[in-house]
Amino acid sequence: MTAPTAGPAVGPPLGMLAELTHRCPLQCGYCSNPVELLKANRELDTQAWLDTFEQAADLGILQVHLSGGEPTLRKDLERLIACLDARGVYTNLITAAVTLTRDRLEAFAEAGLAHAQVSFQGACAETTERVGHYKNAHQKKRQAAAWIRELGLPLTVNAPIHKLNIHEVPDFVALALELGAERLEIANVQYYGWAYLNRAALLPDYDAVMRQVDYVEKTREELTGVLNIDFVTPDYYADYPKPCMGGWAADAFMITPDGTVLPCHAAQTITSLAFHRVGEKPLREIWENSEAFNRFRGFDWMPEPCRSCERKEIDFGGCRCQAFAMTGDAAATDPTCIKSPHHAALRDLPPEEPIRRRVVGRQSAST
Ligand code: SF4
Ligand code: FES
Repeated sequence: MTAPTAGPAVGPPLGMLAELTHRCPLQCGYCSNPVELLKANRELDTQAWLDTFEQAADLGILQVHLSGGEPTLRKDLERLIACLDARGVYTNLITAAVTLTRDRLEAFAEAGLAHAQVSFQGACAETTERVGHYKNAHQKKRQAAAWIRELGLPLTVNAPIHKLNIHEVPDFVALALELGAERLEIANVQYYGWAYLNRAALLPDYDAVMRQVDYVEKTREELTGVLNIDFVTPDYYADYPKPCMGGWAADAFMITPDGTVLPCHAAQTITSLAFHRVGEKPLREIWENSEAFNRFRGFDWMPEPCRSCERKEIDFGGCRCQAFAMTGDAAATDPTCIKSPHHAALRDLPPEEPIRRRVVGRQSAST
């Protein structure tokens, strides 16, 4: 076990992502879950999640994103929402929405759910089924979105973008407007875990990305006051990295289905770091004092060129997980930065293969 270390002054976290399960009816080839998925028997039980949420509320958390896998596969989700609501914590359900019923959604709303986010793998039925490998998925998602609006819950449409659906970006805008969504998240896939494995098949070409950027910037302005469009940019084609997580362990953390507490969803890919589980240590101690959380806080850990760069307070040196995946050194400058010596390697894609898709407990190949 690693000893606690003194680090920079640490404020309270604001947000938490609770990955309640890795089980999921969809099999997307860019899933943000780890490549080694946890089976149901490794999941925290209801009481352990309730204890964790109480600790998170004591720590100052203001909002919790309930995610997975598919979080609605947890039969105790209503209880978990009610616990957070009783502590005044804002809850956001992140769902693929293909197994939802109106009764279940009503139970979530009664328990105090504040917001729902429904992912669409395509803007039309054919693409949604092709990417998520689930029959009638598009129609089921549309129905769930309609129920969410009927119940008076704010709705976000989440659109993960990659080579197979980048041409549908205008149709995603039309879909979000038709469904009465408050917000559309056009989220270019980030290449970690499953998406990194499948990057040759998923990474769109440069021209398609530039057309998308122009369209989103123009449409965002046109729809001001009608639809909020969040845009997660494709950093493989950018000159500078994104400020991943707003900085390592700055104001948010996540918890995996078995209770491992992480500074970001891909942190376990950094094999040089050790992480604690809830139950082993109080959440406050993990947040404030654990070696892994303090490792990349602040600016002192930065090597050159980040250390003396004028952008270090804008992007915090980029993404530690991306740096580790591409260079083997989590402290390296994110290779998406033009100042990184590894920047040119971003274009070295492996040969394109059939997309490997996630199935809990095993991997499978698919075209
Ligand atoms: Fe950001 Fe570091 Fe690149 Fe500067 S050198 S832009 S801080 S990643
Ligand atoms: Fe881990 Fe960016 S995903 S730091």
